[in-house]
Amino acid sequence: MTDAAPLSRDFVWGVSTSAYQIEGAVAEDGRGASIWDTRCRTRGGVWNGDTGDIACDHYHRWAEDVALMRDIGVGAYRFSVAWPRVLPRGRGAVNQPGLDFYDRLIDGVLEAGIEPWLCLYHWDLPQALDDLGGWANRDCAGWYADYAAVVARRFGDRVKRWITFNEFSVFTLFGYAIPWAAPGITDRAAHLKAIHHVNLAHGAGVDVVRDLVPGASIGAVHNRQAVIPEHNDPANAEAAALLDEHWNLVFCDPQFLGHYPPRTADAIEPHVQAGDMARICRPVDWFGLNHYGPIFARVDESRVWRYGWGDAPADSPTYGVGWAVFPDAFRDELLTITRRYRTPIVITENGCGGSDTPDENGAVNDPHRIAYLTLYHAKMREAMAAGADVRGYFLWSLLDNFEWGSGYGNRFGIVHVDFQTLKRTPKASARWYADLIRHNQKF
Ligand code: FCB
Repeated sequence: MTDAAPLSRDFVWGVSTSAYQIEGAVAEDGRGASIWDTRCRTRGGVWNGDTGDIACDHYHRWAEDVALMRDIGVGAYRFSVAWPRVLPRGRGAVNQPGLDFYDRLIDGVLEAGIEPWLCLYHWDLPQALDDLGGWANRDCAGWYADYAAVVARRFGDRVKRWITFNEFSVFTLFGYAIPWAAPGITDRAAHLKAIHHVNLAHGAGVDVVRDLVPGASIGAVHNRQAVIPEHNDPANAEAAALLDEHWNLVFCDPQFLGHYPPRTADAIEPHVQAGDMARICRPVDWFGLNHYGPIFARVDESRVWRYGWGDAPADSPTYGVGWAVFPDAFRDELLTITRRYRTPIVITENGCGGSDTPDENGAVNDPHRIAYLTLYHAKMREAMAAGADVRGYFLWSLLDNFEWGSGYGNRFGIVHVDFQTLKRTPKASARWYADLIRHNQKF
């Protein structure tokens, strides 16, 4: 908890999840396959061969999960819609039972007094579209816009907070250049095309939602982390600079400033058509920031762009599953965004993984997570005092869930999930977050 003065009553306190990570029910009610269903069935795709087939079974247990959120006292819930549940083949025929699921969920969330924040894309591209080239195919931007229109038409009467994409750079870099995520391609040209086509899709998505949803508040979620040369070695400086572009700039700069950053601009030019930059640079209402910790980059000749992930300094503090903890980098990132893009910010993800297990009484204590969150909240406050216009904070995540690379081996929830019985148990951090929210709403 914190002794700091309460924040404004309008400050949004929420939790985040995503469809593939919690829903399960991958073959129910007409859902089509996504690239993550495929990835989970690829040898070596995910740790331990884990899949999202059942995940948290949220598809059937959503009412229990909404009740958990209400008990914690969150004001907002950020979730994603699974494109292949709505359009099983990615385009064409709409699957009504898929839309009906989100109807029930949205109504349940609203009845609990919680505001739904709907993310249109959290990485689960329909497999049928990947078969046509996925994001490396320019047509994918149009397919995405059509999908966004189906969702906006159906839910725009009740949902006013819209997110076009989650973490553009992660799914493009790891999907098309460094094969750590679906679809797992390793190809410079495919990566550059994917960057540009996803940017076009974002711009089209903003326009579609703006047209169809009166009063919509629209943002996109960017993962931004400082990229630091490993060992501060000048030999790693160029690797870090290029990774910084691919990770932090190739989406934010075109979307907010209307141009690509210098190292990428020439390389991407062959894929850019007249009028594209204006299509991408559409006004949004806020900047969504996902942040965990900085990246240390090194030269890696075996990788397609000749950079790779390096090690944090040996004396760095780590929590949970070993991610390095650098709260100052969080404050600095908030201030960098403020200076560079001059926009209000919503922190759409921040949190800490671990291998939390219940004790002999069934309680789940996660002091490492509480310590991490306490430090990061203090830095958010510092950034706000220094001029960052932060409007909300969403904790990742409500539930332990399917983690992309590490399956069920890395628990990020403030609610523990027993993946055998699917029983939910709020952890100590859920009580900590409930107190933090209550404290901040005291006036
Ligand atoms: C982010 C993802 C989210 C989750 C957290 C731990 O990169 O957006 O789905 O995996 O990391």
